[in-house]
Amino acid sequence: MAYLDFVDMFARKSERDPEELLKEKPLSFPISTNYRGEKLIEFLTDIVDIDFKKLRVLDIGCAYGGFSIAMAKRGAHVTGIDVSAQFIEYAKTNARGDVDLDARVMDASSSDVRNNFERGEFDLILLNDVLEHIYDTTSLAKNIDYLLNDTGFVYFKVPNGHSPRWAISEGHRKIFGLTLLDPDCWFYLYPRRASIFYRPFEYFTAIFGHFGLSNQLWIDEEKVFDRFPKRKLLNQFKEIYEIYRNNPEFDPQLKEYLKHGINRFRDEFLFDWDDLGDAYCRFKYGSYFYSGFFARPKANIAPKTEVMKLPSIGSIAAAAPDYHFPEL
Ligand SMILES: C[S@@+](CC[C@H](N)C(=O)[O-])C[C@H]1O[C@@H](n2cnc3c(N)ncnc32)[C@H](O)[C@@H]1O
Repeated sequence: MAYLDFVDMFARKSERDPEELLKEKPLSFPISTNYRGEKLIEFLTDIVDIDFKKLRVLDIGCAYGGFSIAMAKRGAHVTGIDVSAQFIEYAKTNARGDVDLDARVMDASSSDVRNNFERGEFDLILLNDVLEHIYDTTSLAKNIDYLLNDTGFVYFKVPNGHSPRWAISEGHRKIFGLTLLDPDCWFYLYPRRASIFYRPFEYFTAIFGHFGLSNQLWIDEEKVFDRFPKRKLLNQFKEIYEIYRNNPEFDPQLKEYLKHGINRFRDEFLFDWDDLGDAYCRFKYGSYFYSGFFARPKANIAPKTEVMKLPSIGSIAAAAPDYHFPEL
């Protein structure tokens, strides 16, 4: 079976026992790929009217292929691309004999994309847990503008490096402080290359808006408005201060960089709170992941259920901060 062949292949490469990998609870990120693909289908069909039959889908950063496979099973024509040849091998093995999957090694932000695909070739582009790994997001957005048809849309999910929870423990590496540092300084805390670039959601709004994807819907998947009172955010900021202060083993240069990182984070948070208010800040700092759609103006992404409308900057009342963080 295709999925089990993939698990075997992955187990061999990572020198693990496939049976053990399948027994893990929760399943690891790679092994849960097909499960996560099925969940995404449920999630998307709950939120918007979407018919996968004959939909032309590009899964950027398809990795192990689970999202591509779930859509292909519903009749979509799916192409998966990934910058890593190893990942494309996994995706092909995962799909083989089960669904047709056109999987290709390609850098999504390179000009190669325009040599390989027609203009407007896709109805839906997926960027699931990928945006944070792409350095040149301007070229990526430009390529997406080329690839997406007139009524097309992008579904994205991206970890929120602006959540104080990620500063306390960065989601990929489970280390304190990474999101407070420039990626070039990650080596102080994590010896391997970073390849992760966190940006605030305003950055993505602006860049995709610029390239014709101005119809944007940000989904409050985690219900941060209900579950994320201001007090909770403030307590997380306090935790960042405490961890910083109670770690005598930090290298002095690292300590200095972390100090500036924390001060910068604090300034941005206080500025936003003063200027943009409660709703905005709950979303920007409370969400663990951001997800939503960037779409062509003519795309039909009218939500079926009630979803959060991101308050527009300038239209919301300022809420006065009731806590003062000292500068470090
Ligand atoms: C965290 S994985 C996400 C995989 C998959 N979308 C999922 O959610 O399971 C990020 C993937 O993006 C790929 N990637 C990173 N930069 C890329 C680029 N410039 N072009 C294409 N793929 C890229 C990586 O090789 C990796 O497979």
